Amino acid sequence: MALRDRSINMIRDYSSSSNISGNGISMHRGRFISMTSLMQKNLVGFKLADIGEGIREVTMKEWFVEPGDKVSQFDKICEVQSDKASATITSRYDGVVRTLYYKVDETCLVGSTLVDIELEEQQDDPAQNKEVKSMIEPSEIEIASLPKELKSLNEKALSTPAVRKIAKENNVNLADVPASGKDGRVLKEDVLAYLVKIANKTETEEVSVAKVDQSIEQLSKALSSKKYVKHMWKSMTQSLAIPHFVYSDECDVSKLIKLRNQVKEAFNKQGLGLSYMPFFIKAISQALLQFPILNALINTETESLDIKQEHNISLAMDTPDGLIVPNIKNVQKLNIFEITKELNRLQELGKKSSISPTDLTGGTFSISNIGIIGGTYTKPIILAPQIVIGAFGKIQKLPRFDEHNNVIATNILTVSWAADHRVVDGVTIAKFSNLWKHYVENPSFLLIGI
Ligand code: COA
Repeated sequence: MALRDRSINMIRDYSSSSNISGNGISMHRGRFISMTSLMQKNLVGFKLADIGEGIREVTMKEWFVEPGDKVSQFDKICEVQSDKASATITSRYDGVVRTLYYKVDETCLVGSTLVDIELEEQQDDPAQNKEVKSMIEPSEIEIASLPKELKSLNEKALSTPAVRKIAKENNVNLADVPASGKDGRVLKEDVLAYLVKIANKTETEEVSVAKVDQSIEQLSKALSSKKYVKHMWKSMTQSLAIPHFVYSDECDVSKLIKLRNQVKEAFNKQGLGLSYMPFFIKAISQALLQFPILNALINTETESLDIKQEHNISLAMDTPDGLIVPNIKNVQKLNIFEITKELNRLQELGKKSSISPTDLTGGTFSISNIGIIGGTYTKPIILAPQIVIGAFGKIQKLPRFDEHNNVIATNILTVSWAADHRVVDGVTIAKFSNLWKHYVENPSFLLIGI
């Protein structure tokens, strides 16, 4: 075996044997540095970082590079999709792409090498250390940022090979497509939006019906292959293996509406929007203090429950990228104002598709407020390894009897809890729900904390 090839293989051996413990890293790092300086050849395997929260695999969504491409640090390498979010992986090196290890749609394991990059020249040790660091610092994965209206600067920066392919398949001239990506890059979404525009325009301008049909067909094909749909499919199919126990009830939220109306203005003056969610979230935390078993993660291998002290409440959020589930951490330590601040922060980030992996991981209990759209009762699906999820319906003014049997107009919120019936029985959920309902119906108890 030639000296250079041996060097490459040894580096790959190093990569595959890396572990994330502090001792392991420093030991391996030392060996790696000494070999590369000896061989004067820098082929590095760029790995998929551990993004925590039990995520072991992602799907390769899109490559922004191909073998032979020159890349600089922070250039986009690829986009991957987990069942929680999509993430753009950026380069840590200046160099030339040599090998891509996964095809689009293939499953990539955390810790495996995504791409080999041949460094332009011998780079300093810190660059090598970054590779090790990438195994232990999930925060260095950058969630795809909000597209901005930017003009394209040059042909090379216009788009990725994948986008060019979609454009070509649809007879679209990329120069006609308004670019919204960083540095004027035309994104896949831009091409799809352009195709919709063409489809609408064609209708009004009576251009051939055949062309409209073709565009719509291409568009629906592209949309149906959106990776978050694929991941939702996978994670929800897995969740359906869980025996769900569903319990529903209704609450009178008249006092809550009054309280919220009283303080809303004060929140607005602080630059915050106040909805009902912070009260629902705090009520969950207060109730969990008495039912800690419901704030737990299940381990199906050891058939055990890991009860969590922190109430990290995950909430289903509708964003331009689809459904994502960030969480508000340590709700047991937060008051309504602090929860509102966190919720506003996450909503702002959600709009920009820039919620961090930290916000997306570590959830212990989930909720979904579908009521802002409509509906009364819904059966939520548990987000494993969590064991409970709650869903709220639309608040409606409905006739109900008071204690004197008079019919009165009442503001009714419906709630449905789904729990993993392997570890939670119906009585526990019913008692928890009653306590939650008590707090939501009497929100002053939330403010005084008992
Ligand atoms: N019934 C009636 N009105 C409701 C309501 C409900 N259940 N929930 C919220 N509202 C009101 C709010 O009070 C607010 O009214 P306002 O303008 O008078 O203040 C308005 O609807 C919009 O509220 P918003 O700030 O968007 O939502 P929120 O704080 O209540 O909820 C999210 C935040 C993130 C949960 C929400 O924006 C969202 O994305 N919901 C969709 C969740 C989803 O997709 N679930 C399905 C999962 S499969």
